[in-house]
Amino acid sequence: MNILAIESSCDDTSAAITIDDKKILANVISGQEEVHNCFGGVVPELASRSHLSAIQPVVAKALATANMSLDDIDLITATQGPGLSGSLLVGFSYAKAISQVKNIPFVGVDHMAGHMLAVLLEDKPEFPYIALICSGGNSSIFLVKSTTDFVHLGRTRDDAAGEAFDKVAKIMGLPYPGGPHISRIAMDGDPEAIRFPRSFLEKDSLDFSFSGLKTSVMNYCNKVKQQKSNLSEIDKANIAASFQQAVIDVLTSKTILAAVQNEISTIVIGGGVSANKELRKTFEQECQKKGINFFVPSPVLCTDNGAMIAVAGFHKFNRFGPSEADDDVYSRSTLG
Ligand code: KG4
Repeated sequence: MNILAIESSCDDTSAAITIDDKKILANVISGQEEVHNCFGGVVPELASRSHLSAIQPVVAKALATANMSLDDIDLITATQGPGLSGSLLVGFSYAKAISQVKNIPFVGVDHMAGHMLAVLLEDKPEFPYIALICSGGNSSIFLVKSTTDFVHLGRTRDDAAGEAFDKVAKIMGLPYPGGPHISRIAMDGDPEAIRFPRSFLEKDSLDFSFSGLKTSVMNYCNKVKQQKSNLSEIDKANIAASFQQAVIDVLTSKTILAAVQNEISTIVIGGGVSANKELRKTFEQECQKKGINFFVPSPVLCTDNGAMIAVAGFHKFNRFGPSEADDDVYSRSTLG
């Protein structure tokens, strides 16, 4: 089955062409960093408008890369939620319109399902598995029973992990999105230099909270600035490395706890923060120690992309059939 998939939940416009959940023929991603950079975060209205101008060329480029026309497409799928409603509406309506005009079946899918299933394009982890989704909008742990059965075990109570990276980057005067910049300068720092707090919440809780950590970094930066007016390069590197380590400690230990609590021997991670090299390395080491199989997609399949939506759409369509013509987008996930 040739699938055209569209992702527009936040600030990336992406269109992919895949064959089932097996082969990526095109995965075109158009980011909006330059639009939002000066604001230090995504401005929803600007994001929607940028999707509107990007969507047609992005879809055209995906078709051209795959050497296909719409006549070759058997299924259209698009992100239905969660995300920014104005952004979602652009990709979702565009996909629905093509489906109506060309008479191609359409299915709307959950963005989180995409992140949890992206790994299937490269690997074959056995079900059930524990999935950690750590992105700009979500930090969640799911029990993935099959390609269409998800149980939500833990979620963020305040800032998502990626949001914490972005906010700490802003405090340190780094560009948006902050994750890749923090991880780059952290390479020159000492992760043990500053003992930032790790919030584990109640005993055995699988929920996350990163806002206290963000505030603690802010207070630390203010204290250093009061003492010597500006952060030196080594101050910045140590803050970045110590902050990153605090996030990694919480994400790895809670995800492994979820696997132990549910007697599951496979962990998959996804979402933009899982592109972080130190996080990937720590998960590999900790899972190996515990005899847990660990899978993470290539970085391009960790951040928002259309190919992961194709995988989720393929499985949802096979099990439940097409979406209703009057289906609407949603900003909060009800998955699991
Ligand atoms: O999954 P994604 O592309 O979009 C959302 O669905 O939110 O994730 C974007 C988030 C941003 O917060 C970005 O700072 C973070 O992922 N990110 C990283 C890295 N690359 C992207 N965070 C830490 N280290 C990275 N290397």
